[in-house]
Amino acid sequence: MSNAPQHNNMPKLNFDLSKLPNLTDLSAENLCENVQAINSLCENPRLKAIMERLVQHSHAFVREVGLTTEEWMQAIEFLTAVGQKCSPIRQEFILLSDVLGISALVDNLNFPKPAISTGESIASEGKGEYMLVLGKVVDTEGNPVKGVTMETWETDDTGMYDTQHDGQFAVDCRGQLKLDDDGLYKFRAVRPVPYPIPNDGPVGDLLQKLNRHEYRPAHLHMMLSAPGFEPLTTALYFEGDPFITRRVITKPSSKIHQLQADTCFIRFPCSPLATPSLVSNRR
Ligand SMILES: [Fe+2]
Repeated sequence: MSNAPQHNNMPKLNFDLSKLPNLTDLSAENLCENVQAINSLCENPRLKAIMERLVQHSHAFVREVGLTTEEWMQAIEFLTAVGQKCSPIRQEFILLSDVLGISALVDNLNFPKPAISTGESIASEGKGEYMLVLGKVVDTEGNPVKGVTMETWETDDTGMYDTQHDGQFAVDCRGQLKLDDDGLYKFRAVRPVPYPIPNDGPVGDLLQKLNRHEYRPAHLHMMLSAPGFEPLTTALYFEGDPFITRRVITKPSSKIHQLQADTCFIRFPCSPLATPSLVSNRR
């Protein structure tokens, strides 16, 4: 035990206080370091690693945006409202996660797409209207990209992803293709439909304040990777979908990447450090 003076009325502790860092003289400069030191006693290595990064990134975020006390309180009130909106049949935190793109990121990292061959279907039968997706992955010079791995996923005609259906989860409407050196891809898929996100909670309020529409246009997600190129995560939309130009995520005047008829081109950057770009179809 520590040599520190013993005081009366001290609770019995199951750890050695002397192992804890001295937290006096806390300052903006050493707060992160001190929190990391306290958390370093965690015996679960995975939890310890996650918390270390969480503290590091969240402290850096606060510094980067110069978060004010008022803004911090607004954030707490917002998160409180998100929690209060949750019920056994309503999960507002998942909705918030969706809006921030975190759900899709976690989904992409944790749900490997079934491998399919050229011409095969990523969707099982009875999921709606089917389509053939054809295209070519080229670099910014127009040359085919070699060694492309394409991951793609979509909703069915109910506007739901396979992970959102009640009952037992079954992988559907998602797949992974290894493209030949000509960069051509061809697969069968169900035509996705536009779908609304719930808008009667704090996330809906946030979207309203941000002037964002709650409808997502129908889209087909694509994540592309190839040796020597930056990975590209994007989505293809359908010409004529009214929610493309009405959604606030993309300005009406900005370039919309569309899947028209049966063919589209996807361009990779020519430089590994360049910003990936998706260019429009050829029609
Ligand atoms: Fe989506």
